[in-house]
Amino acid sequence: MKRETSIALSERLRQRVLSNTSDEAPGMMEEPASVYLDPGRWQRERQQFFLDTPQVIGFAGEVAAPGSYMAAEVMQVPIVVTRDERGELRAFVNACAHRGARVASGCGTGKRLTCAYHGWSYGFDGKLAGRPGEAAFEAPGAGTCLRSLPVSDRAGLLVVGVSPGMDQALVDGHLDEIAPQLEDLGFDRMQSVQTRRFDVAANWKLVVDLSHESYHFACLHRDSLSPLMSSHAIVDEFGRHSRWAFPMKGIEQALGGPRGDWPERPPGVINHTLFPGTVVVVPPRDAQLIRVEPGADPGRSVVFYSGVCADPERMEESRQAYEFGGDIFETEDLVAAVQCQQGLAAGQRSVLFGRNEPIVQFWHRLWADALR
Ligand code: FES
Ligand SMILES: [Fe+2]
Repeated sequence: MKRETSIALSERLRQRVLSNTSDEAPGMMEEPASVYLDPGRWQRERQQFFLDTPQVIGFAGEVAAPGSYMAAEVMQVPIVVTRDERGELRAFVNACAHRGARVASGCGTGKRLTCAYHGWSYGFDGKLAGRPGEAAFEAPGAGTCLRSLPVSDRAGLLVVGVSPGMDQALVDGHLDEIAPQLEDLGFDRMQSVQTRRFDVAANWKLVVDLSHESYHFACLHRDSLSPLMSSHAIVDEFGRHSRWAFPMKGIEQALGGPRGDWPERPPGVINHTLFPGTVVVVPPRDAQLIRVEPGADPGRSVVFYSGVCADPERMEESRQAYEFGGDIFETEDLVAAVQCQQGLAAGQRSVLFGRNEPIVQFWHRLWADALR
């Protein structure tokens, strides 16, 4: 993060604490329950926001080393992202040309990707490099390569497109509006800690809504997060992306000295939400990513929660912070989202977003405007 950005955000957070206020929306907003329930709307969101839109799936540091790879899944499409010996980044459908099994799982380094089923192996350029019983097959050709996907690592984040034929330029430009805010956060050097997957009985937007307001801290997180974090919030919009930040308790003391001595990152948590709803969490150290996508029907979603570590020597500390956040998310936030889904399905007419929930409002307007 650029020094002037960090200082400006720290100052805004401090002012909000000192004045006991938050950035707010001009008014309240009401949304019909159908935005979470309607199958037609859900189908259009699925196609337009997830299949036809590039998706942020991780941090460039997770595949920084030459010869490294990382497997992921987007809308049930298995993906593998690779960095070859010359540093070139590529992405492929993680499906073997023989019969479709995966050629990589998790993350790691190596010279080949090898399918666990019959042992076909591929170079990091996606070309078939070898297979047992070669004489049983005709010569390798285009049909024996892994199918490539457009990928970029703009601002230290991995962006891929899963629809066949998605334009590389669309993937390259996906983060244009917010990239300057994300550069210099060190995402390209951070190492993978872990990724957890949650299958949640709630609409994908109910899960994204969880990461967009601090109004719930004092109640839902009374004994977990609330003793550590203040709910005073600052918000910013960057085209189709947003930033929402809240301070740690004691920010006044942390910023007690001259500005030159202020910490590198603001003493708080900065959530960047990237269209269509992927949240990059930036605490004072390390980073996490919460990626939500529609599940099997409007009332289900799949959530991937990933953590990365800025300093390998402090990996254990990073893991503990990742677990702490993940446990709260799983046992408190996701539980609330499932309850909301049940309440809405039981016949609730609408939901309300207060003036103190400006980023929730921003995203509901954006999603509605973006749907064709
Ligand atoms: S499916 Fe991969 S080697 Fe057979
Ligand atoms: Fe929460």
